[in-house]
Amino acid sequence: MKLCHGLTGGIGSGKSTVATLFSELGARIVDTDQIAHQLTQFGGEALPEIRNTFGIGFIDPTGAMDRVKMRQLVFSDANAKERLESILHPLIREQSQILAQSRSDAPYTLVAVPLLFESGRYRDWLHQVIVVDCTEAQQLARTMQRSKLSEAEVGSIMAQQMSRNERLKLADVVIHNDGALNDLRLQVEELHSQLIRL
Ligand SMILES: Nc1ncnc2c1ncn2[C@@H]1O[C@H](COP(=O)(O)OP(=O)(O)OP(=O)(O)O)[C@@H](O)[C@H]1O
Ligand SMILES: [Mg+2]
Repeated sequence: MKLCHGLTGGIGSGKSTVATLFSELGARIVDTDQIAHQLTQFGGEALPEIRNTFGIGFIDPTGAMDRVKMRQLVFSDANAKERLESILHPLIREQSQILAQSRSDAPYTLVAVPLLFESGRYRDWLHQVIVVDCTEAQQLARTMQRSKLSEAEVGSIMAQQMSRNERLKLADVVIHNDGALNDLRLQVEELHSQLIRL
């Protein structure tokens, strides 16, 4: 079977940018953000349990999870955040594993998981984990620029994630995204040529 590798990194580190560069070279990307979105759309597998746990008030008129309301709740309520994650994380993991291990013409698969180390049980079926790294100041600036979140909001998300140092310690491979996009592209090309030979 072809190999599956994990791709992770802190908020705004450049995971999506890196995933796009790899997919342009022919890698298959399994995107857990996309899976999470599908699970909470109308008809999504997570909806019955979300409705049972949080109530019908958290389902919007289209029959999807009310994302705005849920974001507000979990932002201020750690217990609610834990309950939502205990519903979503196992489903995301299961779904991403099924997709990643399904047949493909691509030479290898990358599974992009923002909280790969935090949510556990990815390491045992992934060959190696690639971490996208940049400075915390860059994470903050890039996320604020892209999302229009305030500095305090991004800072609080970063505080809930593993620290940069802890993440780097757990990495098998590090992509350094503290420079220009062209430099990022060169690293991706180099790593791609190694991954197709594994
Ligand atoms: N080397 C770079 N130089 C300048 N801007 C960059 C660089 N890398 C990424 N960016 C920009 O920073 C922002 C965050 O990058 P990206 O969306 O790839 O990160 P991410 O890790 O997927 O973020 P999230 O955790 O929010 O999903 C984007 O607007 C992207 O275009
Ligand atoms: Mg992203």
